[in-house]
Amino acid sequence: MTETGTIKLHRYGIDQLDQIRSTLVALYAEVYAADIEKDEFFSVERFVERLAGHSRPGWEAVVAYDGGKAAGYASALPERTGWWAHMLQPLPEEEIREDSERTMALYELMVRAHWRKTGLAERIHEELLTGRTEERATLLVDPEHAKVKALYGSWGYRNIGGQQPFPDAPIYATMLRPLR
Ligand SMILES: CC(C)(COP(=O)(O)OP(=O)(O)OC[C@H]1O[C@@H](n2cnc3c(N)ncnc32)[C@H](O)[C@@H]1OP(=O)(O)O)[C@@H](O)C(=O)NCCC(=O)NCCS
Repeated sequence: MTETGTIKLHRYGIDQLDQIRSTLVALYAEVYAADIEKDEFFSVERFVERLAGHSRPGWEAVVAYDGGKAAGYASALPERTGWWAHMLQPLPEEEIREDSERTMALYELMVRAHWRKTGLAERIHEELLTGRTEERATLLVDPEHAKVKALYGSWGYRNIGGQQPFPDAPIYATMLRPLR
């Protein structure tokens, strides 16, 4: 656990997913409330399904707590080959070669409104990446969320093309950065 001021960052592994599932679902339901209203893909049920789909060794989450209240979280999973199967334009073979050790995928990064613009999102992200053994990190971001995309750019990610991970998902920008 990492502690600064009243904020504590707690790292969880796959064996603790059952213990924190309800916290993650509650964070999602609050942060994505507007999207949940508008689009079935963002429903809480679909989020729970996607979370269940991530239940395999190597999954980790970092949850930030402020005085005992969960304020945000991010999670990571070692990538196999599935990630690259949904690219709209194929990438060179060397770029998409995976062995479960090369690339971590960042799934979800969310901070409740009260804790935004405090640097907490960056701290959660840094804490999650610290201690990962993969060579690089990848994430998806809605290209229409230009400021979030720019934020990730400032953290060292570059856009390598569009992908649609599920038939009813938005087309996301795929971003990649080295981890060392
Ligand atoms: C992304 C997030 C963790 C960043 O937190 P942060 O570092 O404190 O940064 P901010 O919240 O100030 O966001 C940076 C900018 O992106 C914008 N932004 C954040 N989330 C956005 C979203 N979902 N859609 C459109 N713009 C968004 C903010 O309005 C802000 O712009 P501003 O400076 O003009 O106000 C936080 O904004 C969040 O939880 N957003 C909702 C969930 C989300 O979109 N996660 C990213 C999934 S890829």
